[in-house]
Amino acid sequence: MPAFSDPSDDGACVQWPLPQEWPLLSRKPRLGVMASGAGSNFQALVESCAGGWASIDLLVVNNGGCGAQQRALELGMANQVVDHRLHSNRESVDRALIDAFKAAAVDLVVMAGWMRIVTPVLIGAFPERIINIHPSLLPSFRGVDAVGQALAAGVTLSGCTAHLVSEEVDAGKILVQAAVPVDTGDDRASLTARIQSQEHRILPLAVALAAQRLGY
Ligand code: GAR
Repeated sequence: MPAFSDPSDDGACVQWPLPQEWPLLSRKPRLGVMASGAGSNFQALVESCAGGWASIDLLVVNNGGCGAQQRALELGMANQVVDHRLHSNRESVDRALIDAFKAAAVDLVVMAGWMRIVTPVLIGAFPERIINIHPSLLPSFRGVDAVGQALAAGVTLSGCTAHLVSEEVDAGKILVQAAVPVDTGDDRASLTARIQSQEHRILPLAVALAAQRLGY
């Protein structure tokens, strides 16, 4: 089963909820994943799901050939491109996402580095069932370049948040957070790397907690 963080390990990260039993699910949720880039969070989900608590039934990317899609192809996992550039508005993109996820019969949708705003069209199709990972301690530093925003603000503590997606961007119910100290001399790359290593721990847990809330 996936590990929980311990305040004594991995750069003195502190995770909320604190170490506890992995949520015991009575049914195995089917996951759809959305990604735009390198896919390290997708990879973390794949590794966690190898434990058997959930299945990943479809990866959708908006950037064909991105790292996440390459990983799915290597693993022989179902994947699809929904290219936002071929749609005239966000709602149309979301309708394509809904079609893909409904066809794959997914129960929950995970935005694992999806760098686009979603609309009430998608949120309404999967109420309380969409989880996002964001590289800040929300409600601080919503929106784009959260790590750059945190560095510019001079905070000494940053981190990541896995939350349910609501109509207001980066504002839905918080499921799991991990705090990551900012080191003197950190730049975007170094802080992003340490935050992402915590994202990989909290995102699977948040998905399991979201499933548990829904009675899985
Ligand atoms: C992650 O750090 C995630 O928090 C961020 O994109 C990165 C994707 O990395 N998401 C956002 O900023 C969403 N607002 P990955 O492709 O390696 O998982």
